[in-house]
Amino acid sequence: MTKKNILLGIESSCDDTSAAIISDGYILSNIVANQSVHQQYGGVVPELASRAHQQNIVPVVDTAIKEAGIAKEDISAICFTQGPGLLGSLLVGSSFSKSFAIGMNIPLIAVNHMQGHIMAHFIKQVGEEKKQPKFPFLCLTVSGGHTQIILVKSVTDMTVIGETLDDAAGEAFDKSAKILGLPYPGGPLIDKYGKQGDKLKFVFGRHKVGELNFSYSGIKTSILRVIEKGVAENPNFITENQNDLCASIQHTIVEILIKKIMKASNELGINEIAIAGGVSANSYLRARLLELQEKYNKEVYIPKLEYCTDNAAMIAISGYYKLLEGDFADQTITPKSRFSL
Ligand code: KG4
Ligand code: ZN
Repeated sequence: MTKKNILLGIESSCDDTSAAIISDGYILSNIVANQSVHQQYGGVVPELASRAHQQNIVPVVDTAIKEAGIAKEDISAICFTQGPGLLGSLLVGSSFSKSFAIGMNIPLIAVNHMQGHIMAHFIKQVGEEKKQPKFPFLCLTVSGGHTQIILVKSVTDMTVIGETLDDAAGEAFDKSAKILGLPYPGGPLIDKYGKQGDKLKFVFGRHKVGELNFSYSGIKTSILRVIEKGVAENPNFITENQNDLCASIQHTIVEILIKKIMKASNELGINEIAIAGGVSANSYLRARLLELQEKYNKEVYIPKLEYCTDNAAMIAISGYYKLLEGDFADQTITPKSRFSL
């Protein structure tokens, strides 16, 4: 019997410390430790994030190995997020991985975080048949730091064909939530309250940009104006209209995403559409995409919720494909806060 390729993946690019084990492409465990310390500051504080990663990394790896039911000696290779992300946070994951590779005498593999989000579509689960996107496909990658449309020709050939010129979609969710007085990260809360609201109650101005690019900074200003005007007339404006405000904000942000991915799909004649990144957890975006599938004959791929936001399973599956290609890193490798695909 041939030996299985068992990979340990490490993700530490922002404020989630995560470790996962993948065996020949099948997920065995995926542990994520969130950092609640940032909530009170309304955003991620880089220095606090790296300290929390240092505290979390060993217990998170230990739990991932135990939950997978393997011994650390069974691991064939370790892979980690090289970037993009917060440098201090990335350093914790990369230093740990380099030491682990030396200690266990196994290969080291470096993964691009954005590639990881896309590769989440290829994670397999024992006993579960899930359709996977067929190449070439388009991936709308929407997270707290990125909003991109990527043309994915193969596991290794990915090109950015459109991106935000200012804020990312997740940032637009979080900053809008902050204006409403909601804690960080506000995206999931806008999703939650928006479910009960009227999406057409408030109209927010958008900054239109050409091609397949996006712009989200104008929406924030427009939301601020609507709120200021509303509060001036009624001090309870936000609380009385919270659900409608959330639904309208969500609708505005999501419509732009839908419009651009449809444009890309029609222009390139590619009907395979995938989404990735934290914002792909948004229930309204997921529902709108499924509508496209039915109405316009598109084939839509939506990752499981746990593989939308930052996780190490997506890093481990990327590492698995790199291992098959013999694409290894050495001990001189360093993290990159900016790292394009
Ligand atoms: O991919 P991710 O976990 O981290 C980055 O690499 O940025 O994405 C985090 C982003 C945050 O902006 C968060 O508010 C947003 O994803 N997010 C959501 C939802 N869940 C997470 N935005 C809208 N609706 C959600 N359900
Ligand atoms: Zn991410």
